[in-house]
Formats: sequence, structure tokens, C-alpha cells
Amino acid sequence: MASIQLQTAIPGPRSRELFATREQQVAPGPFHTTPLVAAHAEGAVITDVDGNRFLDFTSGIGVTNLGHRDPAVMVAVAKQAEQFVHTSINVVAYAGYIQVAERLNALLPEAAPCKTFLANSGAEAVENAVKFARAATGRQAVIAFEHGYHGRTYMAMALTAKAHPYKSGFAPFPAEVYRAAYPDFYRWPGVAGEVGSCPGASDGTCQLSRCLCREAFAAFAEMARAQIGEANVAAVIIEPVAGEGGFIPAPAPFLRMLREWCDEHGVVLIFDEVQTGFGRTGSLLACQQLGVTPDLVVMAKGLANGLPLSAVTGRAAVIDAVGLGGVGGTYCGNPLACAAALAVLDRFDDPSVLAHAQQLGKRLKQRLEAWAERFPVIGQARGLGPMRAIELVSDRESKTPDKAAAQAVVRYAYEHGVILMACGTHGNVLRFLVPLTLDFEQLDEGLAVIENGLKSLG
Ligand SMILES: Cc1ncc(COP(=O)(O)O)c(C=O)c1O
Repeated sequence: MASIQLQTAIPGPRSRELFATREQQVAPGPFHTTPLVAAHAEGAVITDVDGNRFLDFTSGIGVTNLGHRDPAVMVAVAKQAEQFVHTSINVVAYAGYIQVAERLNALLPEAAPCKTFLANSGAEAVENAVKFARAATGRQAVIAFEHGYHGRTYMAMALTAKAHPYKSGFAPFPAEVYRAAYPDFYRWPGVAGEVGSCPGASDGTCQLSRCLCREAFAAFAEMARAQIGEANVAAVIIEPVAGEGGFIPAPAPFLRMLREWCDEHGVVLIFDEVQTGFGRTGSLLACQQLGVTPDLVVMAKGLANGLPLSAVTGRAAVIDAVGLGGVGGTYCGNPLACAAALAVLDRFDDPSVLAHAQQLGKRLKQRLEAWAERFPVIGQARGLGPMRAIELVSDRESKTPDKAAAQAVVRYAYEHGVILMACGTHGNVLRFLVPLTLDFEQLDEGLAVIENGLKSLG
């Protein structure tokens, strides 16, 4: 049976009605990718209030990586709800928090001994990672990257690169944040058309006549030396694959050079794995396949498959720098969310889960690269594992971003039963955040709709 089943025009009457009320009652700030209102969700399918069934190719922005209402996660949450839902870790501790910390610490054996702090959202964990780094180094400056996205709180906004809509009108931002060029080799100065990423990403040696990783690193190091002074840098924060910025993987050699630079200068290297985590790139964390270990890793989204939970995990020497009472929050590491995270981590202990994610990634890669040959509107198909995207341009030579085309395909997709999101500094990238439990028939069913969306661009 097909997953997609549409009974009404999209959006249906009940969705329209609720959206009209939303307009009157709800702050207009939160964006909406679709005009749909959910009634039920299971696996890769969301059913709306009008009874229409959609394939969800967003996983709630990279959260429900194991699919909606994963049965093991639901059982764990229900069981916890029968015991207690809140005591606050600051008042009466509970095993779930401690066990999640233990499990996350084990993910970074090269950084052992590790410790973990739990919070609620990705932005909150980013904030706290910066606190740990500043406390541990006694320094102030933090270097973030172009295309970086780290959340909506003030420090997270300051670290985020894109002004509109994330930052416009909200200044002033916290000081001592500096920005380096991200290794986006599709748009790197002087690089024409074809070079998508450094070949060294796979085998560890740069093979281009121009080593772009070294160029990007040299630009970074020079900025840090000239504008900040290495001895003033507390932390460098980077997404191993720029997520909101356009699904741009940072090549492993570049990350290795950053690692060496941080070691040389006593700087805390933070990987923001909020979007890349929990199988999204084909490994539990992206850093595990890139062979570069950060001092701190920030996690959220897929960690609890839909319950709000985030974490900062890393070197005990850094985490221990913040003393008793220095970080925290009433809801941090909520018991229901911890129960969900433990179930998520158990699910990933089964190697077939990541193996399937990798297969999905391969199939997606093949399909998107084939589209790139066929549709001139696609400037580049790229990604890491199943975290994949296509960047749309109105002209391949000039690489002029085509945001309108991306919006048109997103709209075509939901009108025909697939929920899809755009991203990118220029809003012109179609990203695929499919549930990692999606079966191949569902993948093909959803891709057929999106392919028709691309065809409809004319
Ligand atoms: C890489 C990255 N960091 C941080 C965040 C912020 O997470 P949250 O929305 O949970 O605050 C996001 C959210 O998209 C993200 O993709």
C-alpha cells in the first residue's frame, strides 16, 4: 500500500480552519514549512487533521530519526511516566540522567575520561558548551563559521552566521565572537564548477593541485592570529556538516588541521552535532566516521527522538572547570526525555539500524546525483551518509542561488504528499532528513513526488 494518501485538497478544511486561528492567537515568529496540522504520526507517515497521509522527509527537523513514535521509545517513556515525570536533577537525582551521561561519555573513548551535562534544547547546550570552554581556559573569544547555525538564544544567535531571519532586529549580541570561512568548496573563491569537496575527505590526503583544505585552514589560522590572538581563544565551534547553512560537509583533513591547531594553542574544540547526531550521517555521531575527536560535543534533536533533551559531552577536565551550581536549569535532563534517550541508544546498539541508514544514504546519493545530471537547476548534490541535499541555482556557471525554485518544490511536495524542507544561507537548498527507518519503497515513493516537483519547474 502506498504511504501517501490524500483525501482533500491540500491543505484540507480542518487544517485551514486551525491555521486561521493560529494566525489570530499565535506569535507569528515561528516559521511554518507547510500549512498542515498533524493528528497522528507513525514511522515515516504523518496524518493530518483532514485524514491525509504524508511521507515525512524532515523528521521534525532531524529529530525523529528512528521514525515517529518508535515503539521502544514509547514503551520507555510510558514506563517512566508511571514512575515520575519530574523531580529536578537539582533536587532529587534519578538514575536515568546518570545512565544517559554514562552512555554518552562512552561515545568519545579518545577523549576519556568524559563527563556529560544535560539540558533541553540544542541552543541551550551550545550556550553551556561555551560556558565550559571559557571556564576551562580562562579566555573569552569563540570562533564560529560562516554558514553556521547554533540556535536562537543570544549566544547561539551570536554564533549563528545568517542574519535574516535569525538575527535581524535582535542586536546587540554577546561580544568576543569571531567568524571564519567554512570550507564550502562549491563556492570557494576561485573554484569553478566541478570541485565539490576535497578528495582528501575519504583517504586523508589532498590530491588537488590546490589543496582547498589547507587554504581554508590557512585563512582560519590567519584570522585567529591577526584578529584575536591565539592566546585569547577559548573555543572553536563547528558543525561537521553545516546543517541549516546548506548541508555542506566539512572535509576530514580540514577538521584534522583544526584539531591540531586547537591542541597547539590550548583551545577547546566544540563539534555542534545537534543536527548531524544520532545516525543522521550514517554513524552515531559524525565525528566517529571523520576520525576527529572534539573536546566537547553538543547533541540534541535525535538524542531523544522527539522528547526535548540536549547534552554537552566531553573531556572531564573541561566539564569539571564549572563548579557546583555553575550550570543547570529546572527541566534539564527531564526524566521522560532521559528514558527516551536510553531507548534511542539501545536501538542504535543494534548494528542493523545504522547499516540501514547507510543504505538509505547510498540510495539517496545515487538518486540525487542522477538528478544533478538531469536537471540544470541543480548546482550540486552533496552530503554525508543519509544527510543529503541538492543546491538549486538559476545558472550553473554563476551559481546564482534559486530560492524561489526551492520553495516551489517544497510546496509541490506537500501538495502531493511529501513533507520536505529547504535550508541554506541563501534558502536555495533542498535537504533530505528522512527517517532512518524509512523503507526503500517509501524512499522511492517520496523521491518520485520530488522528482515531479523538479520537473514542474519547467
Ligand atoms: C547544528 C545545530 N545547532 C543548534 C541548533 C539549535 O537547536 P534547538 O533548535 O534545539 O535549540 C540546531 C537546530 O536546528 C542545529 O541544527
